[in-house]
Amino acid sequence: LCCGINPESLPLQCVLTGNWTNDLGSTMEIKAVNEEGSFNGTYNTSVSATSNKIVLSPLQGYQNCKKESSQPTFGFTVNWNFSDSITVFTGQCFVDKKGKEVLKTMWLLRSHVDNITDDWKATSVGTNIFTR
Ligand code: BTN
Repeated sequence: LCCGINPESLPLQCVLTGNWTNDLGSTMEIKAVNEEGSFNGTYNTSVSATSNKIVLSPLQGYQNCKKESSQPTFGFTVNWNFSDSITVFTGQCFVDKKGKEVLKTMWLLRSHVDNITDDWKATSVGTNIFTR
């Protein structure tokens, strides 16, 4: 059970497990969330800061289980298989007024630079909204 919570017993529970699409058209699959809140999955980005051929990349994260929240916070890292970058996402799983689950996230994309003098331009920030 995800964080020890049975979603069947809570009708307005936001569940991370499953397939999601964001506002850029990127898709991800989050596999089972275990008792400790830890999960993994795969990410297929629709865009890239590089010109490399995009391939499926692994993600690993945590849902916070401390409160048995029906709208939990979470974070995950995507380790891009086709570039030397890393993205971290953090967000919250909400149930909207129509009863639809939505992930409101912010991300930091760290690009690789060859020299410390280029560090200032190596991190970009943004938001993504995921729905099922
Ligand atoms: C790279 O360009 O080096 C890796 C791909 C980065 C894709 C970014 S991560 C944040 C934003 N949200 C997405 O779904 N894709 C882009």
